Amino acid sequence: MTGGVSSRVLAMLIAQITDCHIVEPDGLMADRVDPASGLRAAIDLINRLNPLPDLVLATGDLVNDGGATQYDHLDSMLRALSMPVLAIAGNHDDRTELRSRFTDLPKGGPDDTIDYVVDDFPVRLIGLDTSIPGRHDGRVTTDQMIWLDRQLSAARERPTIIFQHHPPFASGIPWMDRDAGFTGAELEASVLRRHEHVEAIVCGHVHRAIHHRFAGTVASSCPSTAVQLALDLSGAVPSYTNEPSAIALHQYTDGVLNSHIVPVVVADRWSPSWALEAEVPGDL
Ligand SMILES: [Fe+2]
Ligand SMILES: [Fe+2]
Repeated sequence: MTGGVSSRVLAMLIAQITDCHIVEPDGLMADRVDPASGLRAAIDLINRLNPLPDLVLATGDLVNDGGATQYDHLDSMLRALSMPVLAIAGNHDDRTELRSRFTDLPKGGPDDTIDYVVDDFPVRLIGLDTSIPGRHDGRVTTDQMIWLDRQLSAARERPTIIFQHHPPFASGIPWMDRDAGFTGAELEASVLRRHEHVEAIVCGHVHRAIHHRFAGTVASSCPSTAVQLALDLSGAVPSYTNEPSAIALHQYTDGVLNSHIVPVVVADRWSPSWALEAEVPGDL
């Protein structure tokens, strides 16, 4: 057989997990969600893929409170993955813990932020740290964007994916954009407009799938492995919903990037089981 999808060479497959919000073993998130069950199911799914992904992007909020025992618990689960895991910080992470756990991450960014470039794969990967210690909203700084512009200028011929926790766009969900939004979107856009080789900006934070045209590329948020936030456009307070956990699979083939959102079956997320029916205040 000639031509067609089946004969194409798969150049690179990237799995994305995000907002795992891991707590202590046997602990619960918000007193009723077991985030470990979601991450375990996501890892099982990734390990059953054929072909296996080349790497996993973990786009922040990897633990719930930034504590060492939560990172121990996270480590114990991520060890089941056979491919490299690249992590960036979310608003629930601790940069010092993250640096001590993901020791292979290259040095890079301009400040205390964990920004870096990975050049080892067909698609170049740039991690951007949008976290602000002690706060839920995110930002990029002028220094970071000068650094980003320099990295992108250094390899204009290379397809590139940027990964960051906070999406550089408003979600349309009022409380989220007000209390946990992003500063610096226009600054980031001004850099991106100069670089057509950025295939995508992949993010987390929103606990929902959103796709957004952004400065000549596509920016998206991936659902959480732990729990999703309700799509409430009315301005109500945040709440969780029973929509499925998911991962994203970014498939780069023949010079084209396809991004798939893949639901993950998690049978035992709610504890106790009646918790789903209760009014659940959310936190992202
Ligand atoms: Fe977040
Ligand atoms: Fe989160």
